[in-house]
Amino acid sequence: MEQWPEPVIRVQSLSESGDRAIPERFIKPPSERVTAHQGPEKTMSIPIIDIGGIANRSKFDEDTMRTLSNACKEWGFFQLVNHGMNKEILEKTKEVWREFFHLPMIEKQAFANSPVTYEGYGSRVGVEKNASLDWSDYFFLNIFPKNLRNYEKWPSLPNSLRETTKNYTKEIVKLCMILMEMLSLGLGLDKEYFREAFGGDEYEACLRACFYPKCPQPELTLGLSSHSDPGGITVLLSDDHVSGLQVRKDGEWVTVKPVPGAVIVNIGDQIQVMSNDIYKSAEHRVQVNSEKERLSMALFFNPKGDIPIGPAKQLLSPQKPALFQHNFTFNEYRQFIRKRGPTGKYQLESLKTM
Ligand code: OGA
Ligand code: NI
Repeated sequence: MEQWPEPVIRVQSLSESGDRAIPERFIKPPSERVTAHQGPEKTMSIPIIDIGGIANRSKFDEDTMRTLSNACKEWGFFQLVNHGMNKEILEKTKEVWREFFHLPMIEKQAFANSPVTYEGYGSRVGVEKNASLDWSDYFFLNIFPKNLRNYEKWPSLPNSLRETTKNYTKEIVKLCMILMEMLSLGLGLDKEYFREAFGGDEYEACLRACFYPKCPQPELTLGLSSHSDPGGITVLLSDDHVSGLQVRKDGEWVTVKPVPGAVIVNIGDQIQVMSNDIYKSAEHRVQVNSEKERLSMALFFNPKGDIPIGPAKQLLSPQKPALFQHNFTFNEYRQFIRKRGPTGKYQLESLKTM
């Protein structure tokens, strides 16, 4: 599909129009809406992990490795504190992207994206005509490998956006490398296992700046429908003062309470497959609200696109056979979400062999 099937609706324009009712296309069926039910949300929260011990690589810490690995088994979602990344870079990144979304529409439209690569300014994921729409706009960029990086597709305003985004993504990728080692060791594999399975230096990374404008009827819609991330590891930097992200745990939706200065990490489908289901890619979604806009930056750290993906052989035995078909590459895998949009964990479940 070369183009979007319908004229693109910028959610920010809807939000700023002052209409009290959201268009029908954004109204979710009752079963998908956020309910007022506040069961385990009150008591459960995703793990908060202090990684002071590993941000500095000279100090490998077995306990931190175990804690991370357990969080991937149980939740597939956690917040990292004491990560050692430069606080100014993190704050600046949110600032420049917030500024970008507040530029006049004509500046942003110059970067309007298409479903061919998704790079640029977008307002939907998926190309099915009449599909239900989510209450958000975004900006999507290829970051690594460098030959997929096209600065013409990067906003030139605000002035410091490019430099800041470069610095930010470099820091986050460094963190991903450390996490990959920890996650490999946590499975009893060689510490280089995931790094190599992702294609060594040819790993891929892309960035999605997500913008959730204020919504007059937040109880009827979602900022982002339920999905698991298709790739390897996602690192999310979100507004400290606005919550919205919810993670599904044992069938219940748990709201993530942002810890100032922390980053949120979640496991994607490729790691679930490579770990043969030991690590979980959690389903998540975003709730919107009528009071405050929300900004988040998602860095997707992914395997090189053309490597066949499958469970690590070292984890398999007659008692533990491969649980997934492994005849796909990440490029093939991600076409599904790019065509169909977010569909919970449907895609991954459909690859299960038993
Ligand atoms: C995503 C995502 C969550 C958020 O972009 O895949 O899940 O809080 N974002 O914006
Ligand atoms: Ni996601």
